[in-house]
Amino acid sequence: MKKRYGPEVAVSYPLTGPGRPGYDIYAGELAEACAGKSGLRVLDLGCGTGRYFHCLNNVSCLVGIDISTDMLEVAARVCRKLSNLSCAECVLIEADFQSLQFVPNSFDLIYSIGVVGELIPFTQDLLDKIARWLTPDGKVFFTVVDKVAHEKEKVGERAGFRQTIKRALAASPLYRFVSPRLAAKFIFSYNFQRLYKSQNEMERMLDNCSIPIQYQIVRFRDAKHPKIGCKIVKNQG
Ligand SMILES: C[S@@+](CC[C@H](N)C(=O)[O-])C[C@H]1O[C@@H](n2cnc3c(N)ncnc32)[C@H](O)[C@@H]1O
Repeated sequence: MKKRYGPEVAVSYPLTGPGRPGYDIYAGELAEACAGKSGLRVLDLGCGTGRYFHCLNNVSCLVGIDISTDMLEVAARVCRKLSNLSCAECVLIEADFQSLQFVPNSFDLIYSIGVVGELIPFTQDLLDKIARWLTPDGKVFFTVVDKVAHEKEKVGERAGFRQTIKRALAASPLYRFVSPRLAAKFIFSYNFQRLYKSQNEMERMLDNCSIPIQYQIVRFRDAKHPKIGCKIVKNQG
């Protein structure tokens, strides 16, 4: 993942994106989650270049986590130019957030855009952890790629057959004879698709969350994929 989000991607990655499909939805959700509050502690999981930092308001502390040094370097520059937050209020951490722990009730708003259920697995364990880190009444917003809509859009009948052949090949010893570059490309795309989630799968996970929550699911399309957006509020007490 560090390689995928290396220096070339980091310098060309969008820093904002009004008008880009999806962007306005994310920006609106974040602005709404911050409205009418004060002293919010916010966590951005997989913050990348900090594209959404400027949508946040009433924040006393923002923690952005990303595994890529190059993306974080850009995010640090973005932080220095923000008018809604001072640099002192932004903490950028280079880490794999799957292995991080925070004290329970640490954040009022946690969001993750274009990361879980897209580049890394979205597991029940991760959802439970996120819900624990949240303060009572705190909010979460995250997106996953909509597996069913993606298959309908991209795969179709013929491509479905191609996928079956790919899967069979990936599991076969013949795969050793494929060039490493081709193999990497193939496994890459195949693995990512396995991470996508259907709305039913998402609902099952959210219903099984170990912390009492309420949630709402919204579906839309961003610049790349059909998406499922999950809005969570942690129950009080
Ligand atoms: C598609 S980009 C999205 C960046 C940002 N959320 C946005 O929407 O502009 C995915 C980001 O997630 C980061 N990432 C992927 N896996 C990660 C992990 N396990 N821990 C932390 N960051 C991760 C990547 O380095 C990359 O910056």
